[in-house]
Amino acid sequence: MKYGYFDDEKREYVITDPATPLPWINYLGRNDMYGLISNTAGGYTFFKDAKLRRLTRFRYNNIPRDFGGRYYYIKDGETIWNPSFMPCKTKLDNYKCRHGMGYSIFEGTNNDLFASLTCFIPLNDNVEIHKLTIENRLPKTKSIQIYGTVEWCLYNAVDDSSNFQRNYNIGEVLIDKKNNAIFHTTEYRERRNHFAFFHVNKDIDGFDSDLDTFIGKMNSWSNPQAVMAGTSYSSIASGWSPISALRNDITLAPNEKITLIYLLGYVENDKEEKYLKDGSVNTTKAINLIKKYQDTQAVNKAFKDLSQKWKEDLSKFKVETKNDKFNRMINIWNQYQCMTTYNLSRSASYFESGIGRGMGFRDSCQDILGFVHIIPQKARQRIIDIASIQFEDGSTYHQYQPLNKKGNADIGSGFNDDPLWLVACASAYIKETGDISFLNEPVPFNNEIGSEVPLFDHLTRSIDYIIKNNGPHGLPLIGRADWNDCLNLNCFSLSPGESFQTASNYDSHKAESIFIAGMFVIYGREYAQLARLIGKNKEEQRVLKEVQKIERAVIKHGWDGNWYLRAYDAFKNKVGSKENKEGKIYIEPQCICTMAKIGEKYDMPKKAVASMEKYLLCDYGVQLLAPCYTKYHIELGEITSYPPGYKENGSVFCHTNPWAIIAETQVGNSEKAFEIYKKITPAFIEDISEIHRSEPYVYCQTIAGREAKNYGEGKNSWLTGTASWSFVAVSQYILGIQPQYDGLLIKPHLPKEMESVKIVRKFREVTYNINITNKNTGGIKMLVDGIESKNTFIKYNNIKKVVDVEIRM
Ligand code: BGC
Ligand code: NOJ
Repeated sequence: MKYGYFDDEKREYVITDPATPLPWINYLGRNDMYGLISNTAGGYTFFKDAKLRRLTRFRYNNIPRDFGGRYYYIKDGETIWNPSFMPCKTKLDNYKCRHGMGYSIFEGTNNDLFASLTCFIPLNDNVEIHKLTIENRLPKTKSIQIYGTVEWCLYNAVDDSSNFQRNYNIGEVLIDKKNNAIFHTTEYRERRNHFAFFHVNKDIDGFDSDLDTFIGKMNSWSNPQAVMAGTSYSSIASGWSPISALRNDITLAPNEKITLIYLLGYVENDKEEKYLKDGSVNTTKAINLIKKYQDTQAVNKAFKDLSQKWKEDLSKFKVETKNDKFNRMINIWNQYQCMTTYNLSRSASYFESGIGRGMGFRDSCQDILGFVHIIPQKARQRIIDIASIQFEDGSTYHQYQPLNKKGNADIGSGFNDDPLWLVACASAYIKETGDISFLNEPVPFNNEIGSEVPLFDHLTRSIDYIIKNNGPHGLPLIGRADWNDCLNLNCFSLSPGESFQTASNYDSHKAESIFIAGMFVIYGREYAQLARLIGKNKEEQRVLKEVQKIERAVIKHGWDGNWYLRAYDAFKNKVGSKENKEGKIYIEPQCICTMAKIGEKYDMPKKAVASMEKYLLCDYGVQLLAPCYTKYHIELGEITSYPPGYKENGSVFCHTNPWAIIAETQVGNSEKAFEIYKKITPAFIEDISEIHRSEPYVYCQTIAGREAKNYGEGKNSWLTGTASWSFVAVSQYILGIQPQYDGLLIKPHLPKEMESVKIVRKFREVTYNINITNKNTGGIKMLVDGIESKNTFIKYNNIKKVVDVEIRM
């Protein structure tokens, strides 16, 4: 069952039924200001940091689930309704939500009134624009009232939802009737030098700024007293919950339409400029923004510029095949999701509350892999920010807050895979750009001024951290966890509520990870190659020797007969082995060790992939492990806390599936690779939206596995490493366009059904138009500008800006 359709021409997903199984959301903004917006206009807006600088309020764990948003009310006689359906739930004659690139449009018709609400954040201003157009389609005049509303959050979202003894006293607003604006000035008198505002570009006929007055006793957002009565109470919030509700009374002649522009803005003033000479709040910057977006023309232009920017960003990699689902995922939604995960890491979605973690070290490093081709310069800066939270011994903070970029001391360090991901993203950036001098960039440790060393030295510390932290089998120590945050082999937790990750209360210094071993082989080699490129041949040799050591250790101690083991626990017992009753086989080592080609001589990768298919492949992708744990194993940690089939305990943990796809291509199974791709990729499962339940345009973190009650249900959509790894799997392995330090390597692994593929790849200064004819011959031939090549590597030069590449296979 579907709840909408893809409009590829406009790059939109169009939702036609407001009652989607879960809120289906979109993101506004791409620089400093962001908005989460659901298909019924729910969600919230923040500046840079969803925890520390939250502008509007969202109510978590609510019924209905999606509550708090940009709510526009139309009062037409006795009927009140919203173009976005919620919160009134008045039946609409027509409803559409168009989620597009950085914008969402809501269209609703009720009783011959047509309303369209376009929400977006322009490229370079901190303002969320809501353009509301209302058209009278009746042959007679209509008098209606329009209320635009937002509810303010008191900036610190954690405090806002917990510290009521203070918060119910501090709320302040400033009413500026002349400018039809309400400013949210809570705490501006003391330590804040910022405020938010809400404005409409037409003289208002009334306002409210106190929630309780506007809503009325015992009412809710679905039937606010003021709207029901068709009036406003001019309430001025003093403590409690400040809101902005702006009312306009409008008369529309037959076929007349009106457009109102609402601005939800954010402004910062320098300390010395907080107040004007007369002691009043300095609203100059806000007024300037208001002036800038006064008329529809300016707003339409900003919208066009935004669309143009997206078009440009999505032009770096384009593919054309006969498969529309594939095309739209690669050309539009997958890359769009990569940009979103890059911007927000795992901070704010409908599953990540925005009040928990900020930016994750390993998450951000991996997000770069799918983003770096879009805006390499931004990736460069991010890599510096990430590397700056590393410690001198090579370990690193696991997370940092985006507002101040400081490492998060509550979580600390000790996730032993983290350091290696830095090598992964730094090398991906250099391959994309050729900017090898990046390795000289001075970067501090733990953000301490004066501690700067060249970026390359950070990579060295990453590598050495793994080398120095080996366990009894010569395999890397796992620490608090590796990529699998829930495999906590040094945390023996019996207290409810205790964090499995940070309560490392059984520091065995014995538990080892075969996953980190596989990573070390891949990224150790990558690092060695970088060392060679900058003339450090001894360093190259030193690390290659260490790589070999780890390879040997995996072959000797990390192989279980038909698949790679997952780990050794604190007592040196095997995890992910046929000897275990539950959790006999895990997906991660099968993929990563296959990618690392560990034990190729002994056919280990082939056998591991075959076992993965046999035990882990289900209807909706490849499960993380099998059989799922049915009991809590104190020595394994959080992974066994989940009911079977959910999250790390054997769901299809989507992030790992692109690894499975890559692994399949590495052992020559192009068909299987594509089969797995189709199982997890949202556009391919749109038809079963009633089972999958999550958005059919973006990846989820997990799809409930075979052993789960809700088999096939997707959860935790949007902010997942699945986005970037899927893009890597498709662009570099299925389509096979691999950036290298000195050019592009073309090595496709196409399924039979893809007989002809056209790719446009902008790489550095050159556009490569690549045409592939796939006759499944088993061989491969390449012609560059008509001339046959010896191999399928194209050395980079920028003499010709457009290069035609012909691949026959
Ligand atoms: C989740 C993991 C997540 C971890 C850290 C766990 O509860 O299952 O997926 O990585 O928390 O936030
Ligand atoms: C989600 C976390 O953000 C990510 O860092 C981790 O690798 C996965 N969960 C798996 O546990």
